[in-house]
Amino acid sequence: MAEGSGRDKKGSSGRSYRSKAGLTRQPKKMRGRKPSSQRWLTRQLNDPFVAEAKKKGYRSRAAIKLEQMDGKHKFLKPHMRVVDLGCAPGGWLQYVARECRLDAGKGCLVGIDLLETDPVSGADIMVGDINEEGVLEEVATRIGGKADAVLSDMAAATTGHRQTDHLRTMALLELALDFAGQILQPGGLFLAKAFRGGADANFMKLLNERFEKVRYLKPDASRAESVETYLLATGFQPPENDETG
Ligand SMILES: C[S@@+](CC[C@H](N)C(=O)[O-])C[C@H]1O[C@@H](n2cnc3c(N)ncnc32)[C@H](O)[C@@H]1O
Repeated sequence: MAEGSGRDKKGSSGRSYRSKAGLTRQPKKMRGRKPSSQRWLTRQLNDPFVAEAKKKGYRSRAAIKLEQMDGKHKFLKPHMRVVDLGCAPGGWLQYVARECRLDAGKGCLVGIDLLETDPVSGADIMVGDINEEGVLEEVATRIGGKADAVLSDMAAATTGHRQTDHLRTMALLELALDFAGQILQPGGLFLAKAFRGGADANFMKLLNERFEKVRYLKPDASRAESVETYLLATGFQPPENDETG
C-alpha cells in the first residue's frame, strides 16, 4: 500500500493530509515504468511531506524532518557554526541557513557531499567524500576552527538488500561520529541518521562517553515503516588527551 493511501497521518503543521475523498492519487504516464518506480511515484504524489517541502520552498523532503526535530528539541541557535555532512540537494542547508540566521553574516555553515549541490545563500558548499584525506582539515579551515554542530543525513545508495544497506548506513554513522569528534568544540552537538536498533553496543558506548545526553529521534516525516531514525547527542566532551583544539 502506498504511504498515505489509507492512513490519517498529519503533516508537521498538524493538518490531516488524507484527501477529502480518502483516495490515493495515481500518477499519469505509469506505462513502461518498473513496479518499484510506479510505487515510488505514487508515494511521492500522495506524500503530504513532499507537498509541504515544496510549499515551503525546500529542495528536499528531508528538510521537513530536520524542521520537525529542531522544532521539538530546539538545538539550532542563531549564529552557530554548523557542518552538514551529506548535504545534497541542500534542504538541510536551507533550513540551517535560515534558523541560524547566517544571512546576518555571523555564524558559519559548511556543507559537503559526494554530489554537486546548487548554491544556498549563507552556505559554503564542498564536493567530496568525508572519508577522504584532507577533507576534515579543509572543512575546519572553512568553518574557521571548531564547530558548534555536526549534522549528518548521509545515506549510501540502497541495494535493496536489507543487511547490506544497514551495514553501509552504520559505517557512515561511524564515519560521521569520527568526523564530529575531531571538529566539535566542547558542548557541541551531533545529529545523525541511523537505523532503529542498529547502532551496536560499542558505538552507543562511545557516543555516551563523548556526549552528556544521547537520544533517538523519529520525526513524523520519517516514514513509520522505515527503519530510519536519528541520533541526537548534545554536550560534547572531548577525550582528555585531545590535542586538536
Ligand atoms: C539523504 S541525502 C541528504 C539530503 C539532505 N539532508 C537534504 O536535505 O537535501 C544523503 C546524501 O549523503 C551523501 N553521502 C553519502 N556518502 C557520503 C560520503 N562518504 N561523503 C559525503 N557525502 C556522502 C549522498 O551523496 C547523498 O546526497
